[in-house]
Amino acid sequence: MGAQIIDGKAAGAEVRALVGERAAAFSEAAGRKPGLVGIQVGEDPASEIYQRMKAEAAEAAGMRSERVVLPAGTSQQELNARIAAYNADDAVDGMLVQLPVPAPLTEPEIANAIDPVKDVDGFSPGNLGRLMRGEPAPVPCTPSGVMWLLEKSGVEIEGAHAVVVGRSLIVGKPQAMLLLAANATTTVAHSRTKDLPALCREADILIAAVGRPEMIRGDWIKPGAAVIDVGINRTDDGLVGDVAFEEAVEVAGHITPVPGGVGPMTIAFLLANTLDAAVRRTGLGIPMKGD
Ligand code: GUN
Repeated sequence: MGAQIIDGKAAGAEVRALVGERAAAFSEAAGRKPGLVGIQVGEDPASEIYQRMKAEAAEAAGMRSERVVLPAGTSQQELNARIAAYNADDAVDGMLVQLPVPAPLTEPEIANAIDPVKDVDGFSPGNLGRLMRGEPAPVPCTPSGVMWLLEKSGVEIEGAHAVVVGRSLIVGKPQAMLLLAANATTTVAHSRTKDLPALCREADILIAAVGRPEMIRGDWIKPGAAVIDVGINRTDDGLVGDVAFEEAVEVAGHITPVPGGVGPMTIAFLLANTLDAAVRRTGLGIPMKGD
């Protein structure tokens, strides 16, 4: 037997097409396109690639995209002034600063500077609080994409034991909130967790978000479990996830590949959040297909 392989590329394309339809309806009603600004500080090659992919995807979905690259050494004050200008710009619906940022910049300063209504990453204190409270707000893109993949693949979430390995602000913590909201019994594991393999073997849904190449082995997986690999690790053998795919695919019920699993969902949900922000800011009702 082998696991069903979850096709994130196809799922991402589906979400992007839906957003594209809504973006066209928004542009018609508002007389302007939804606007997204991506800010990058310094020249980290991975950030460069992600930022370019985000900008291209936004344009392909009928949005106005602006890419800003600031020099490494930009002060927090200078960055905050740029953010404040975009907060005040009515043509900008969504804004993000690509992480990680070089010192002396700090992520909390940035998360607090962005207008929560335009915070399409969903990392601001207010928006993370709303997520915890179950109030509508922009939700971090990667965990949203993971939920979409689980739901579209027919994985039973309610009552399942979900184990999230990793406690980052970007994935682990918001992922746990979303799984809880969907009625999974949710455990968050991390680098200090005792006997991680045994805990993982109890998971009906296993989310790997640690950033360590192929750390999760086939014999850590409960037969039939849904395994979602959020890891993107560059190694001498190319791009690999946090899960040893060749071993895990023999045991799991569902599994995401790397690349082509969770990766494409992050950008798709960034576009969805941008469209939602545009709709919220203008008060125009643009229904999601099927609403
Ligand atoms: N770096 C890695 N993932 C992300 C993300 O989702 N948003 C931003 N802004 N930076 C990231």
